Amino acid sequence: MRRVAGENGPTAIGARLAIAQSPCQSAARMNRARAYSSGPVVIAVDGPAASGKGSIARALARHFGLPHMDTGMLYRAVALTMFRFGGDPASEFEAVRACEGVAQIDPTDPELRSEVVGSIASRISTYPGVRAALMDRQRGFAGQAAGAVLDGRDIGTVIAPNATVKLFVTASAEVRAQRRVRELLERGMPAHFEDVLIDIRSRDARDSGREAAPLAQADDAELLDTSEMDLDEAIEAAIKLAENKLAALAKA
Ligand code: C5P
Repeated sequence: MRRVAGENGPTAIGARLAIAQSPCQSAARMNRARAYSSGPVVIAVDGPAASGKGSIARALARHFGLPHMDTGMLYRAVALTMFRFGGDPASEFEAVRACEGVAQIDPTDPELRSEVVGSIASRISTYPGVRAALMDRQRGFAGQAAGAVLDGRDIGTVIAPNATVKLFVTASAEVRAQRRVRELLERGMPAHFEDVLIDIRSRDARDSGREAAPLAQADDAELLDTSEMDLDEAIEAAIKLAENKLAALAKA
């Protein structure tokens, strides 16, 4: 079956919201990043919802033998905590308090990927207090000696501005909505194209328009538009971009 960019594999928020996945690849792949750099290699993958950045980030982590963090899952875990325990997403105070509940969320909970939780996550991620509460975890992960791949909205601009490689993965809103619909239907969840498209557009506007760490391509990020690509093509393109960047840095 043709895989589609943006398709979600197993959640990568790791055991009990250690929120991350260590590389589980063969020893041969283990130090591929070390072939380019003696120091830790950090790869930042940013982009809008359903652009394929999550699948691409996981594939890069596997390819280079690096630990991976899906930072969107942190915001989704806060959102799910509020959804379950009745927090008001309009209250920054309640959202910041819900950040303490993140470690209690089961990372395999399918509700983390639901549209309602994604929509709450998009709202509460506009709060500077929430971003601050989740920052140390992300920066700590990016700063580990083994190197790392992180995907999100502000990795290359705020969390890891000195990342070795930065990719900004995007696709048209229509293509992203189609992917999201397919993904939801495959998981047995209801999905209507028009509703999903409206949601994607409003999430884009909120993510790009917020004051705190808006979604933006870092000046030194490589742009990867996956609109015309299937997942395998997008992964291949991302690996090539990363390898070229690492090779250029090794030569410099
Ligand atoms: O990537 P995902 O759709 O799982 O992220 C859920 C929400 O979390 C996004 O809509 C976005 O608003 C927010 N987010 C963020 N910064 C990140 C990752 C996600 O603001 N680094």
